[in-house]
Amino acid sequence: MLEVSDVTKKFGGLTAVDDVAFTIGEAEIVGLIGPNGAGKTTLFNTITGIYQPEQGGDIDFDGVQLVGKETHVIAREGVVRTFQIVRVFGEMTVFENAVAGALFGGDGSVDRSTAEEKAHEALEFVGLASQADTEASALPVARQKQLELARALASEPKLLLLDEIASGLTPGEVDELTEIIRRIRDERGIAIFWVEHIMDAIMDVADRIIVLNSGRKIADGTPAEVQENETVIEAYLGAST
Ligand SMILES: Nc1ncnc2c1ncn2[C@@H]1O[C@H](COP(=O)(O)OP(=O)(O)O)[C@@H](O)[C@H]1O
Ligand SMILES: [Mg+2]
Repeated sequence: MLEVSDVTKKFGGLTAVDDVAFTIGEAEIVGLIGPNGAGKTTLFNTITGIYQPEQGGDIDFDGVQLVGKETHVIAREGVVRTFQIVRVFGEMTVFENAVAGALFGGDGSVDRSTAEEKAHEALEFVGLASQADTEASALPVARQKQLELARALASEPKLLLLDEIASGLTPGEVDELTEIIRRIRDERGIAIFWVEHIMDAIMDVADRIIVLNSGRKIADGTPAEVQENETVIEAYLGAST
């Protein structure tokens, strides 16, 4: 479904993403891990049109070339992300946040009443329906993250990119969020590309893990394979245990 090849992104003399290639299949959950500064967020930004890769990079999604397209166009193709820093619209209600998601994504032809329907359904799905009228900024951070998921879901993505959505949560909250992410895939058939430092969560739910180090892909395999990979242990996992 997503086919990334020869993707490099430089910031001046720094190569943040270095000739990376990988694929993500339908309804697959793929984890993206690696040390701070490895290029994970930059890779997300390149896939979602915030940055352009260097010449020769190719990002194909269901036969559509994403390189050169703007973020909102890419969202309409079905590739939607959340951000490392929570970005709910604080002064809007939970419901209005979800409606905004529905209006932003989709094929662009979503009318208000359809958007409200999708918003309601997405809030039900993540368990926030009872707080629809609450101002988003009044929600605890764990709920704000669920709202981010609902907002993304309301836009009916085919591929959801999550950037450290579980960071800063208690273990119980991480479990709850991980369960929602698993259900997004199981019940909605949505593929997930998930950057996370919380190894228990990502290793538990991912079908496959890609490891970045200094911009380069150093491993791509099942959680078990990656956890036993010497290069990965040296570059990342060893340091975190
Ligand atoms: N907008 C930017 N301008 C310059 N350097 C950047 C920018 N964004 C990221 N970088 C650098 O690129 C590298 C990769 O960063 P990032 O993608 O944020 O890593 P990660 O998300 O894996 O922690 C880092 O060295 C970072 O300092
Ligand atoms: Mg990052």
